[in-house]
Order: sequence, then structure tokens, then C-alpha cells
Amino acid sequence: MALVIEKTVVKGPAGSNLKNEVGEQLLQQFMDAGFVDMVRKNSMPWRELMAYYRCAMMEVETKFKVLNEQFSLLYDRNPIEAIKSRMKTMESIAEKMDRKGFPFTIDSLQKDMHDIAGVRIVCSFPEDIYMLADCFLAQDDIVLLERRDYIQNPKDSGYRSLHLIVEVPIFLEQGKKWMKVEVQLRTIAMDFWASLEHKIRYKKDIDPAIADELAMEMRACAEVSARLDRRMEAVRRHLEELESLSKHPEQELESQ
Ligand code: GTP
Ligand code: MG
Repeated sequence: MALVIEKTVVKGPAGSNLKNEVGEQLLQQFMDAGFVDMVRKNSMPWRELMAYYRCAMMEVETKFKVLNEQFSLLYDRNPIEAIKSRMKTMESIAEKMDRKGFPFTIDSLQKDMHDIAGVRIVCSFPEDIYMLADCFLAQDDIVLLERRDYIQNPKDSGYRSLHLIVEVPIFLEQGKKWMKVEVQLRTIAMDFWASLEHKIRYKKDIDPAIADELAMEMRACAEVSARLDRRMEAVRRHLEELESLSKHPEQELESQ
């Protein structure tokens, strides 16, 4: 059964008083589809689970913050411009499980949903993305489940980012629990592009001909933006070479 979800109705985790948190119309749709049953029957596990995802998200954030600190000590610059984390809303979880045909069970939620906790790492330069991803994945408590490189292989829309689905342990009173987190790494330019494209993609009541035109324009913008990323990266490398030469002038003599 397809859920038709009205945007902006639900925010926040599911609690015992679903009515206060879910709009009436949406609640009916969730009930018809069986999603509300799942949340009600598992009220405590649901809340616990969402708390665990938040903990996993914090673990991942902290790991990237630590890498950022370490690189700023070593190289005198911060590879990370911003970290943006988000928990998927209940409406969005319900919509995706329904769209993908996953059964509304807590087990399926944990097994099949990979992006309940999401961490987005925004860098200045493309090479920082790969360097950070490699350092993060080399840590012995990170398990890589899936890696999708939409920078090497951009989507048809023009979308570029490196996606990692990982499992990270969180340490609870009763032991260790492995939780899935989706990490998206992208440059400032890729992030700028994705946020505008996202707005266009989800704009309602847009004439299909105009939507096609805008999509084409966004594909062109993605190419321009990727070229800009490469050129800025080349400028930065050049600058680093110049800095290194001014610190160690003997290098130039050796290379002559
Ligand atoms: P979803 O059902 O959207 O989660 O897709 P998926 O599970 O098949 O994963 P995919 O790698 O396609 O996309 C995951 C996420 O990447 C999305 O939720 C968006 O945040 C982002 N994304 C992927 N494709 C695009 C795109 O074309 N445009 C924008 N703006 N974001 C995208
Ligand atoms: Mg997603």
C-alpha cells in the first residue's frame, strides 16, 4: 500500500502518545499501512532504537572531528568545513519502508534501513573526501557495509558525493551494539548543488516541461561545479608546492 505523505506534518521520535506527534490524516495513513502498529507494539524498543541511532551518529561525528583536529595540527588546515547530522523523521522512515516494500517490523528497520542516522561531511576539496574516508574506514571499530562513489560515477541528475554505509559500535550498560550510519562526504560545491537540486526535485505542482528544463540546467551546473572543484584543487596544490619550496629552497636545486 502506497503512503501519500503530506510534508511538514511530523517531526521528532515516536513516543507513547502518537496522536500528539503525528497529524490526524497522516496517522490514519500510517495505521492503514501497519506502521503505527509496529511503533505502538514496540514503543519502548522504538524509542530505545532511535536513541541508539543518535548515539551512533554522535560516535561518527566525533571520529570526524578528531580527524579534523589531527589534520589541522599536522598540515595547518582543516579539511572539514562542516558536519551536518540528521535523524530520519518517522514519516520519512514509514514512507521509505513502504516504498521499498520492507515489512513494518523493528527487525526489518534495523536490517534494511541504512540511513536512519545520517552524517554529512562537507570538505573544501575533493581529495580531502578520499583522505578522510580512508582514515575513517581504517579505524578498527568501523565496519564498511557499502561504498558508493558518486564522484567517480555521478548520478544521471549530476549528483556527486561519496556515500559510505558503516556499522559502528555503541557501548551500552548491557554491552556493545552495532548500529548502521550513512555517511555522505562531499565538497562545498557539491553540497551547494545538492541542496538546490533537492529543492527543485521536491517542489510540488511544477510544470513537467519546466521541471525537465531545470533538471537539464542542473546537470550542466554539476559539470561546471565539478570543474571548479578540480581547478581550485589544482590551485591549492600549486600553493602548497610554493609554500614547501619557500620553507625548503634546497628542493628546487635538487630537482634541477
Ligand atoms: P534513498 O531512498 O533516497 O535513500 O536512496 P538509496 O537508499 O537508493 O540511496 P542513494 O545512494 O541513491 O541516495 C541516498 C541519499 O543521497 C539521498 O537520500 C539523498 O540525500 C542523496 N542523493 C542521492 N541522489 C541524489 C540526487 O540526485 N540529488 C540530491 N539532491 N540528492 C541525492
Ligand atoms: Mg536515504
